Amino acid sequence: MVEDVTFRVFRGEPDEDGVPTGEMIDYTVGMDEGMVVLDVIHQIQAEHAPDLSCRWNCKAGKCGSCSAEVNGKPRLMCMTRMEDIMEETSENTPVIVKPMQAFPLTKDLVTDVQWAYDLNKTITPLRGPDEMDWKFDQIEADRVQEFRSCIECMLCVNTCHVMREHQLFDEFAGPRFFVRLANLEMHPMDEENRLEMIKDDFGIGYCNITRCCTEVCPAGINITDNAIIPLKERVVTEYYDPIAMIAKKIGLR
Ligand code: SF4
Ligand code: SF4
Ligand code: FES
Repeated sequence: MVEDVTFRVFRGEPDEDGVPTGEMIDYTVGMDEGMVVLDVIHQIQAEHAPDLSCRWNCKAGKCGSCSAEVNGKPRLMCMTRMEDIMEETSENTPVIVKPMQAFPLTKDLVTDVQWAYDLNKTITPLRGPDEMDWKFDQIEADRVQEFRSCIECMLCVNTCHVMREHQLFDEFAGPRFFVRLANLEMHPMDEENRLEMIKDDFGIGYCNITRCCTEVCPAGINITDNAIIPLKERVVTEYYDPIAMIAKKIGLR
C-alpha cells in the first residue's frame, strides 16, 4: 500500500565564515510498506531534489555513514523503519530530518567528521609482548568483543553534551574513542599503558556518566558501563587511590 509522507529536510551549506546557513524544506513522496528513512530520502532525491546530499554506503547498519537526526533523535537512516517513525509522528506533521548537530556542516545531511580520523591517529595502537603467544581465555576475548562491534557512526559523540553543547572536541575523546581505548586497555595481549593520556589528553573526567551515548548506540554497546566506567576506575586507581599508590611504590603492583 502506498501512502504519502512529508519530510521536512534541512538544506544548506556553511557560509564563507563556516557558519551553517540553510532552511528546512518540505518534500512529499509516496511511501511503500517496509521502507526505512533512507529509502524516503532516496525517493526525494529521485522525484524532487537530485542535489540533496546524504552519506550512505551499506544500507545494512554496518558502515556507520548514514547518521542523522530524525524527529530530533540521532539514528542511522538505513535502520530506522518508517513504520516506527509514523507511529511517533503526529498526524499531519512532517518528519523532521537534520544532519548531526555536534559536527560541522558539509552540506544538507552530510557533516564533517574529520575530527574523528585525526583523534584516532593519536591513540597508541596495540603493543603486544616481544614473544608473541596469541593464546588467551575465551572470557578475555568476550570482554573486548563488544567494543569491536563499533561501526564508527558517531551518533554517541553527537549526543554527548560535552561535545554537543560545550564543543570540547580538543579536550575530550568522546564515547566512541573511550570504546576504542577500552578495547585496547582490556585486550589480554596489550602491554601499553594509556592511562595518563586517558586522564589528561582524552579528558575522561569530563564524562559525568549520563548514559545518553549508550542509549543511541545502534550497535548496542554498553558504552558507559562497560567502557567508560572501567577506564575511569583504572585512572582513579592509578592516580588517586592512596593504597594502590603505596602498593605500587613498594613493588606489590
Ligand atoms: S556518559 Fe559520558 S560520554 Fe556518554 S553521553 Fe554522558 S557524558 Fe558523554
Ligand atoms: S560506540 Fe556505538 S554510537 Fe558510538 S560510534 Fe560506535 S557504534 Fe556508533
Ligand atoms: S548506510 Fe551503512 S549504516 Fe546506514
